[in-house]
Amino acid sequence: MATNIDLDKLEKVVPQAEDFLPLLGTDYVELYVGNAKQSAYYYQTAWGFQPIAYSGLETGRKDQVSYVLEQDKIRLVLTSPLEPDGPVNAHINAHGDGVKVVALWVDDATKSFEETVKRGAKPYMEPTVEEDEYGSVVRSGIHTYGETVHIFVERKNYKGAFLPGYKAWDKPYTTASNGLKYIDHMVGNVGWNEMNTWCEFYAKVMGFAQLVSFDDKDISTEYTALMSKVMSNGNGRIKFPINEPAEGRKKSQIEEYIDFYNGAGVQHLALATDNIIETVTNLRNRGVEFLTVPATYYETVLDRVGEIDEDLEPLKELGILIDRDDEGYLLQIFTKPVLDRPTMFFEIIQRKGAQSFGKGNFKALFEAIEREQAERGTL
Ligand code: FE2
Repeated sequence: MATNIDLDKLEKVVPQAEDFLPLLGTDYVELYVGNAKQSAYYYQTAWGFQPIAYSGLETGRKDQVSYVLEQDKIRLVLTSPLEPDGPVNAHINAHGDGVKVVALWVDDATKSFEETVKRGAKPYMEPTVEEDEYGSVVRSGIHTYGETVHIFVERKNYKGAFLPGYKAWDKPYTTASNGLKYIDHMVGNVGWNEMNTWCEFYAKVMGFAQLVSFDDKDISTEYTALMSKVMSNGNGRIKFPINEPAEGRKKSQIEEYIDFYNGAGVQHLALATDNIIETVTNLRNRGVEFLTVPATYYETVLDRVGEIDEDLEPLKELGILIDRDDEGYLLQIFTKPVLDRPTMFFEIIQRKGAQSFGKGNFKALFEAIEREQAERGTL
């Protein structure tokens, strides 16, 4: 549950951040999808998410249907329209399946709304109290990049399965968890010259601070380039890297994303595990496809990162990447896009001290993406 964040592991005070918007963690991530029932089956079967709650015709909701799935502290909501017109349809038509809501767990959704709107946020949802027999939830929301929104969720007076209006989803079919624990970070792609605008938005409107910045010299291959800044809230539980394209000889993955998503949006969710070898083995066995790097990566990787606890062989077999910073090392791997449009994908990450984002792997990773782009004819 999002209510059990492991403070010891995540607490990391970012000194420049301001605390007018205390965030307890990510509450849920909602995707608007063409067929929520089948997407739910995919996240259950391939990813090991557990069925939690449901809202639709059977609960009196006539316009849309939502399935809520959970794995440890990660909560996904999958929503599809039941009618031919409406905002969910328009979103899917423009963007394909994609993340609409990044919901943040707060103590006071009304104050979160007031503080952010006062600082320039565009309102999406006025503070709204929703109630049922399990108590009440207050939600409010603001716009962020593209058509993505943040919803603030105050649930201290609620004991139901998810939100009022949802019923517990008792599905006889369940799958084993894949050891995914929490959302480590969530990355947004924005258009040309928009990175600083949105970093400023997170700084000014939400009190975030910049953790790190990568320019096109850090993140470029022979052909493509991008720039990235990582914004974090004060306690470090919420990290939003923001990418924008940079000039290269060929079209970068960020441009490809922006073309197919029709604008800015969530590029990837990084999900943390305590055992990446086991998690990735299971995901692969269940049909999830990952990017691969050439075997030569593993010939020199230990010269770069030094000693690690894991045997190199299974990492090499699975294509897991390794990087080190001053605080330790990390293991990471990226899926291919999980949708038909080459837009959203997932990262699986295991941190062993390192708090960074795998800068040492950027080149190998982006070359892997370029090989995929070349196959799609979008490089
Ligand atoms: Fe990432």
